Amino acid sequence: MNSVPTSASQIAPDHTTPYPANAFAFHSVTATARETGAKTLVEVGVGHGNALSTFASSGLEVFGFDNNPEMVGNSQAKAAELRLPADRFALGSLEDEATFAETAASGPFDLLVAMGVLPHIPDPAPRRAALTNVRSLLKPGGYAFIEFRNSLFSLFTFNRYTFEFIMDDLLAEVPESIRSVVAADLRPRLEMERPPRSGPGVTMSGFDNPLEVPALFTEAGFTDVETIYFHFHAGPPFLEERDPAGFRAACHALEEDGSSWRGMFLASAFLIKARAPLDDSGNTP
Ligand SMILES: C[S@@+](CC[C@H](N)C(=O)[O-])C[C@H]1O[C@@H](n2cnc3c(N)ncnc32)[C@H](O)[C@@H]1O
Repeated sequence: MNSVPTSASQIAPDHTTPYPANAFAFHSVTATARETGAKTLVEVGVGHGNALSTFASSGLEVFGFDNNPEMVGNSQAKAAELRLPADRFALGSLEDEATFAETAASGPFDLLVAMGVLPHIPDPAPRRAALTNVRSLLKPGGYAFIEFRNSLFSLFTFNRYTFEFIMDDLLAEVPESIRSVVAADLRPRLEMERPPRSGPGVTMSGFDNPLEVPALFTEAGFTDVETIYFHFHAGPPFLEERDPAGFRAACHALEEDGSSWRGMFLASAFLIKARAPLDDSGNTP
């Protein structure tokens, strides 16, 4: 199995391979596993199972589910390749506890990870249900690590997302007469055709504000809520093609401190680390 890098500097800055954004996020997960002596982890939205080797090589027993049957097949195949029990990966949607009963029966778990799941659950009621279900999958005192896409990063991208964030979020309640002046001024200043208008992720939907998300977790009863920024950008992404190796090395260096205030603007994603409440006996996982 792969050995797990324990810091950003241990991940080679090879710009010919995809940027290993999630590997940076997983440092927080594996560090918490070590600190708490966690033994079990459930990955919600396990997808292709790309994270399984990282978690398993940290000594965790890994379980998972995904709401896409094709992804369940992929994660089972990856588990088999890693000589992990493939039947620990099942079908289920985080929004409906009846659908992941098979996985829940193997829990509750010490740790829960969900990458790329909550951006697909934007509406308040299903989100509340999802967070309640995260709590129910965890042991009292267990930790959740949930990924969100950072809407504040759009203030650094100088593209159509910047325009949408300013017009739809910041100035949503400003009179139309002012908004139209601002819109006309901004359009020629910004890269309005970036990202391309067709393909995945073409609107601001799916992004979340890291100043608002922690409250969702405290309202759902979680404690010790922490925001960890990752997938840093050393410049607006449209400039990265000018010096891919240089930008990549600079991005790596920024990943070293996910708690830095800069992450609020330079990181395109963030994790919420949150603890399920302890039970009355004060037991920890
Ligand atoms: C970005 S992918 C994560 C991939 C995975 N972590 C990996 O490394 O291969 C997100 C996954 O979440 C799954 N997903 C989306 N909404 C979900 C939900 N409500 N419940 C469970 N899985 C969900 C998708 O099918 C997809 O496989």
